[in-house]
Amino acid sequence: MIATLSSKKQNRLPRILEHASGDKRFKILEAHMKKHQYNQDALIEVLHKAQELFGFLEDDLLLFIACKLKLPASRVYGVATFYHFFTLKPKGQHTCVVCMGTACYVKGADRVLAALEEKTGIKAGETTADNQVSLLTARCIGACGIAPAVVYDGVVTPRQTAEKAVEQLKGWTGHDH
Ligand code: FES
Repeated sequence: MIATLSSKKQNRLPRILEHASGDKRFKILEAHMKKHQYNQDALIEVLHKAQELFGFLEDDLLLFIACKLKLPASRVYGVATFYHFFTLKPKGQHTCVVCMGTACYVKGADRVLAALEEKTGIKAGETTADNQVSLLTARCIGACGIAPAVVYDGVVTPRQTAEKAVEQLKGWTGHDH
């Protein structure tokens, strides 16, 4: 398990902050931190919110939180890896996060998830045996206007159907399962 961040990763910060400015999920997360007055004691709470928004906690996200709360990245990593309820980046080569928030749910996110589970043969929270795809769920990712939304490899994708989701999977695996 990674406990600290290399200086190389720290150097990625400007790029992460630039990327974050165009992703609504980071804005929602920042609003949440602001609500807590960027209090460092709110770290666990903030990590929970981040996981709800992103489905899992990846390096860039942890660095973003460390930067905003002015905490050493090693501390944020330490907490994220210590508690079993936090999911770090899953091992699948591709990640697929289905938003199961209310707006997405009423527009059929459950059918999208069911189709993905059937196609991959895994349940949400798992990774395929060949490590190709990790399937996850999130709660409202801030894209309700384009519900149901699915995040494929970090790209928020609008108005998904079971068919579209399965097409995306085929694109990744290069063949029909
Ligand atoms: S409920 Fe899915 S984006 Fe809001």
